[in-house]
Order: sequence, then C-alpha cells, then structure tokens
Amino acid sequence: MATAVAEQPNPLTEGLERLPVHPTSLVIFGATGDLSHRKLVPALYNLAHDGSLPERFNLIGVSRSEKAHEDYRADMREAIQKFSRTPPDPDVLEKLLENAKYIPGLFDDDAAYAKVASALDEYDQEAGIVFNRIFYLSTAPEFFPVIVEKLGTARLQHCEHAETRVVIEKPFGRDLASARELNRRVLEVFDESQVFRIDHYLGKETVQNIMAFRFANTMFEPIWNRNTIDHVQITAAEDIGIGTRAGYYDQAGALRDLIQNHMLELLANVGMEPPAGFPADKVRDEKVKVIESIQPPRVEDVPKTAVRGQYASGVVGGEPVPGYLEEKGVREDSKTETYAALRLEVSNWRWAGVPFYLRTGKRLARKVTEIAIQLKPVPYLAFQAQGSLGVQPNELVLMVQPDEGVTVSLSAKIPGARMRIRPVNMEFHYGTSFLSASPEAYERLILDAMRGDATLFTRNDEVDALWRVVDPVLQYWQETDDPVPQYPAGSQGPEEANALLRDAAQWRPL
Ligand code: BG6
Repeated sequence: MATAVAEQPNPLTEGLERLPVHPTSLVIFGATGDLSHRKLVPALYNLAHDGSLPERFNLIGVSRSEKAHEDYRADMREAIQKFSRTPPDPDVLEKLLENAKYIPGLFDDDAAYAKVASALDEYDQEAGIVFNRIFYLSTAPEFFPVIVEKLGTARLQHCEHAETRVVIEKPFGRDLASARELNRRVLEVFDESQVFRIDHYLGKETVQNIMAFRFANTMFEPIWNRNTIDHVQITAAEDIGIGTRAGYYDQAGALRDLIQNHMLELLANVGMEPPAGFPADKVRDEKVKVIESIQPPRVEDVPKTAVRGQYASGVVGGEPVPGYLEEKGVREDSKTETYAALRLEVSNWRWAGVPFYLRTGKRLARKVTEIAIQLKPVPYLAFQAQGSLGVQPNELVLMVQPDEGVTVSLSAKIPGARMRIRPVNMEFHYGTSFLSASPEAYERLILDAMRGDATLFTRNDEVDALWRVVDPVLQYWQETDDPVPQYPAGSQGPEEANALLRDAAQWRPL
C-alpha cells in the first residue's frame, strides 16, 4: 500500500517545470574561492541533478593558483560532496565535471584571457555548435573592472551566433561614486542587457514569493498602504560571526554587506507598485521607482535615523565566542559595524509616514530573515473590560529563512463563557504546502543568467538608487568620532537601536 502511494505523482509539486536552456560554457573567475566552492559549483550540481542544466554544458575555472585540470575537478567534486543541497549521484557528478577545465592566471594578464578564448573555441569546435558564454566574476571586487576590461581587450564580450553575458558578484562598488565608476567601466565593454549583477537574496524562493503573495491575491492590496499599515520591520539577523572573512568584512561592514543590497531589495519587493507585466524591465522599473522614493537622510541627521554596533564577546549556542575586535584579521581599533539599523521612509502616496525599520547584524541571538508588516490597531476595542489577554494589532510576517512561509496574527476569542480575546497565528509553510525543498538561490540565479532572464538581477540605475540611500550614513559613520556601541555576542543587538522606533513600536524579539 505504502509503495502504491509513493508511486503516485505528487500533485503539490506540479508546476516545478524545467525550462529550455541553450548550450552554455560557463567561465568562473575566482574558481578556487569560497563562494565558488560553497555555492556556485554545488548549485551547478543541483541544476544538473534536477535536469535543469543544458544538455551540453562546459565549465572553466580561472584562478591565480597553479592547478592541473584533474586537480580542479577533484576539488570541485569534494566541494559538491560537502556543500550540495542533495546527496550527489556519482553519475551526474562525473558527467558535470568530465569536461571541466582549469586555467591558472593573473586577472590582469592578457595571456590568461587568450587561454580562456581558446578553451571556449575548443568546446565549440569539438561539439560543432556555438555555445553561449557566461563569465562569472566571483573574485575580490577590486578585480571586477580589470577582468571586464581584459575580456574586452581579448574581444570576448561578443561571440558571433551566440549570447555572451557577464555575471558580477557583490559588492558592486563601496559607495555611490565607486559604484558609478564601476558601472561606467563595465558598460564600456558590455551592453546593459549582457550584465547580470547578482544579489542572491533575489533568488530565494521566499523573496520571489513576496510578489506572488502581493499581486496574485486580492485580499492584501486594500490594506497595503499607509491607511492600514503602522510600520514595516525588516530583519536579517545572523548568529555567526565573520569567520575567516575579516579581510573583506572589516572593509565593508554591515551596512554595505547586507543593507545596501539584500535588505533594500526586500524593502523594494514589499513597497513596489504592481508591475504592468513580468518582463525583467517592467519589474525593475517598479523597484527603481520605490527605491528612488526613499529619502536618504541628510548627513547631519544620520544619528537620528541610523544606529550601528559591534559585537563584543559573549555566548552563542552555549559556546563562548570572541568579540569582533578579537577576531583574526580585524584591525585592533576597527570601527567597522557588525550591526546596523535604519529607519527609512518611502515618500510616495502609498507609504508616506510609514516607517520602515531595517536591522541586520552578526552574532545576534539567532539566524532569522523576515519582514513583519505591523497593522494599525482597531479604532476601538469593545472587549477590553472583559479581561482580554494581550490583544495585539494584526501582524503579517513574511518569513524568508530559516522558516519559510507566511504567518498572520489574528485576534480570536478564547473558548469559554466570557468574551476574552487573545492573538493566534494563521500559518503557511513551504515545507508542508509544497512537499519539496526550495532550491538554493544560486541555482535559480545561475539558471536565469543562462536563460538571459534579468528579472532577479540588479540594473545599473537600481544600483545607483540603492547606494544613494546608504551613502550619507556611510559618510557620517566614517567621519564621526562617536564610539561604536557594543553588544554582547548572542544578544538582541545594541540597545541604542530602540531609539529609532517611533510611537509604541518595538523590535520583534530574535
Ligand atoms: C552575504 C554576506 O551576501 O550574505 C554575508 O556577504 C552573509 O555576510 C550572507 O552572511 C547571508 O546570506 P544568507 O543567504 O545566509 O542569508
């Protein structure tokens, strides 16, 4: 009986379709780096495993260290075994890696690009077809412009009879001016339609669901505005520290690392108007509009609208952990923030007067990413005298991770003779509704880049708009002598962040 049930197609997974993808050669610059090991190559494996990768697919890794093709394949095999979402099937794994090549080279050395060009040509000649080409820049950011320019010098930005695209990792610039300069240099070589700037949050199923939730249901739109919404709280908390990433993180900080990109993109998804259609630019036009409606604070007002913090030693998961300044590779007098919170306002007809609170940090009490939409209280609560317990305004929480779903808190009558009210939750969970694990963000994004669909990638004017929001905060924090508030590792973050909240708002407990 159990077997018969297992053989039935699962109706809940209907619609998880495979999309046609043109044969593709993917070149990863920074192929021996952490991102490539942990995310990119395991994502390729899972695409292959699900049958989503094009039938003909080639992988080329480029990095500085010397390595034979076979050693690169062995490293990637190990990375997949360690980090893949699904346990690797040896046949799929071998097929994925059998053609993989490795090219050692310095990113500013023309010879490396000549080798890349001939490896790509070889693939085409052997197969007798012209593969689309994707150059994936997964290096330290200082190499982005160099690689793009060298690709141009080697005439690799176009290929007759096939598409060429470039995928650029974050961080895209370190402030407005440098992001503009990077855009200028990239667009000197590639056309905007070829450029795919990654923000991996946009590839998360739960983030894409924000649009589905808002624009495929009629019930939310009437309340989705300043008349009913009191405030919006967006949290991206992590319990981990900076690990071995001090070199990058100490130069970046929480504002650049998460707020400028991931969290403002979450805000854009919550705040945007319905797009007139789903082509990439229609969606991105709406996102740009809402980001441009955020009023960047004046530099002198930053202390009233932004709070930073740095983790001190503490206890996480029952284990003592060092403070940020004791982490290996961090400058001993570093003022880099590991926590940042902002109060933003979106100045348009839908949102005027509704505060958007954003907070993120390392070494907080737990990992959670969520968007909580707090509605206004009812105008008058008739049951107060009856001993109601904790009546709260409705709250709608879009849970991005680790729980994936949506909850709505409602007030309900406690069973019994009296009219007593307490909050209850109505919940939707991906796991129970779809009975399938969500793909990793990178799987979706790599596939979209191969298909040429830029909807979930950041356009140049969007990058500009995002940096404009955080630039004054960066500037103030860089120039001020104010000490950086400390918070114990494993805590809720610095108490100073409470001062950002207006009226009776409170940060949701982590
Ligand atoms: C990255 C940041 O972009 O996002 C990291 O550089 C952060 O510092 C990570 O840990 C969080 O991603 P996720 O998918 O685990 O929420």
